[in-house]
Amino acid sequence: RIVYVNGAYKRYAEAAIHAEDRGFQFADAVYEVIEVLDGRLVDATRHLARLARSLGELAIARPMSDRALLNIIGEVLHRNRVRNGIVYIQVTRGAGPRNFSFPGPEIFPTLIVLARAQRRGWADELAEQGITIKTMPDNRWGRSDIKTVMLLPAVLAKDAARRDGANEAWFVDSSGAITEGASSNAWIVTGEGVLVTRQLDTRILPGITRATVNDIAASERLKVEERAFTLSEALKAREAFVTSATNTVMPVVAIDGKAIGEGRPGPVARRLRSRFHQLAE
Ligand code: PDD
Repeated sequence: RIVYVNGAYKRYAEAAIHAEDRGFQFADAVYEVIEVLDGRLVDATRHLARLARSLGELAIARPMSDRALLNIIGEVLHRNRVRNGIVYIQVTRGAGPRNFSFPGPEIFPTLIVLARAQRRGWADELAEQGITIKTMPDNRWGRSDIKTVMLLPAVLAKDAARRDGANEAWFVDSSGAITEGASSNAWIVTGEGVLVTRQLDTRILPGITRATVNDIAASERLKVEERAFTLSEALKAREAFVTSATNTVMPVVAIDGKAIGEGRPGPVARRLRSRFHQLAE
């Protein structure tokens, strides 16, 4: 495997960053995960726009233009012969003597790009079964809209879910509303067939898959309400699902051990999943 690190293509075992990289020291870094389907990046424009926004929110310099970054991504895919899988991009504020204050302009951002091959349709069997969710308090910082690598609450939540036999965690805010998944956006379908997902605010990541599913729902004349919903509303929902670049649309069949709808993947989630790659850019 080959990894791009700061201007060079390195063998996997030799790809390294500095011990005082601010990504390592402070999680002073942002990232993106983009799906690769048949050699093409899914929703690349939206992902690169979100990367630029995350960098802007943290005042990290953009390491290069989108065009240059796309060239590097293409080269990483090529050198790793990845036609299907994911690309991971991380940008940190750079490496320099550990100091909470921002470094001066002599410090340049660190950029890494890596690709991982996955069998085409690797998550389809899982989608046939559907996944299960464990809820837990949302103990993340107040700017979950920025895609930072500060992922410890999500790591711990996923592990707590796994220990409970669940596939994903859903975070619940102090008002009892679901915010989002540990690495996905959360959706329900009400008894009236309305899709509900939390409004974009500082508590959730503006998911790219979420945005594309919104477009698909509009083209299918499905009604979408962007608003907060509670755990009790979710437990009464006809369907639930999550969205993310790694899983596209993944049906949810149980939350906290209680079946959602008939306890099987629902027709709306299945339809959105089957339409996703036709409509994603
Ligand atoms: N995670 N919410 C959170 C907290 C996420 O980490 C992610 C994605 C999403 C979905 O966003 P998108 O549709 O743009 O992938 C929502 C990526 C896949 C990850 O960390 O691996």
